[in-house]
Amino acid sequence: MTQRIYNFSAGPAVLPVPVLEEARENILSLGNTGMGIMEHSHRGKAFVAVHAETEAACRRLAGISDEYAVLFLQGGASSQFFQIPQTFLKPDETADYLVTGVWAQKAVKEAKRYGKVHEACSSKDRNFCYIPKTVDYSANPKYVHFTSNNTIFGTQFKTEPTTPAGAFLVCDASSDIYSRPIDVNKYGIIYAGAQKNLGPSGVTLVIIRKDLMEQGNLNQPEVIQYKVQAENDSMFNTPPTFGIYLMGLVFKWIEKNGGLKAMADHNQSKAKPLYDYLAQSKLFKSTADEDSRSLMNVCFVTGNEELDAKFVKETTAAGFDGLKGHRSVGGMRASIYNAFPAQGITDLVAFMKDFEAKNLYGERAGARSSLSPRRRK
Ligand SMILES: Cc1ncc(COP(=O)(O)O)c(C=O)c1O
Repeated sequence: MTQRIYNFSAGPAVLPVPVLEEARENILSLGNTGMGIMEHSHRGKAFVAVHAETEAACRRLAGISDEYAVLFLQGGASSQFFQIPQTFLKPDETADYLVTGVWAQKAVKEAKRYGKVHEACSSKDRNFCYIPKTVDYSANPKYVHFTSNNTIFGTQFKTEPTTPAGAFLVCDASSDIYSRPIDVNKYGIIYAGAQKNLGPSGVTLVIIRKDLMEQGNLNQPEVIQYKVQAENDSMFNTPPTFGIYLMGLVFKWIEKNGGLKAMADHNQSKAKPLYDYLAQSKLFKSTADEDSRSLMNVCFVTGNEELDAKFVKETTAAGFDGLKGHRSVGGMRASIYNAFPAQGITDLVAFMKDFEAKNLYGERAGARSSLSPRRRK
């Protein structure tokens, strides 16, 4: 088998190896059914059991009560950008959006098609390198929408914002869902594309308060109605069966590894050596403000675009893939979701130290002797 390299991609992203190994077996035959997971009908007994197990594990992990529906939908987080306002926002109503990055801007753009949008805060003035400390809500917002982790700029809310009375909280948690404990009861809706912390692309997790589903616009095409999808266990139409299956394996992997608190501890200690190194490096700098830094996406630059490009090229050759930053920030981005191994950070930091020494003090100063291209298990 080809050896695996360090995958720093922002998504689709690295998945846990035991999950992939189990899936590999079940792609050929799910248990002893003689049919692979992707070949089973979504109405069949085997898949219905897979779906039920995925939902149950999802609920167990975050302690999701019966007051919430857990849906596995399609269309990505981007579809939630319009589905939420289309369902809940009337033309004369206002929704408040916390604008902390490009994904939040996209969500705003879609919401404006259906109702009024008030930008309750924005960090656009400094290219989204921080999470604003103050929020200025409108008089009577229908809901408050925020992006818990800003994948592109590497900033993250440490905790959910408080919402004004009468408004429900909506969170795009695409890039940090289940990377730490979450108090679902504080939210009206949480949604996340799976392809960072939960599984493959093509399935979107939506956790939604059941009473909200009753209040929403029920005059939409049925396939995009939360209520209809909930009544049909997300199987109003053919669901993304493989994605749901794999998500279930990832949930069980998280449980096996101690649950969300353990994930949070692991992610904290995993990101620390990289941030510590960035704090004292004379070459590399973190782009996010210290109090806003993400544990999922670590963005950094040298301040010199040519040097950034050289670094990305050399890291790729050395078996560190996907470190090129998003074009709106430039530089580098290390996406280190739940499944990313701590050893990858240790090795990256060692590589960076060596690169720094060579590029600041000349070739001979490089500390590492083994910088030849190599691959890892
Ligand atoms: C925070 C955030 N929201 C939304 C999206 C868009 O997700 P999708 O491609 O599933 O529509 C992304 C994708 O990277 C993201 O990081």
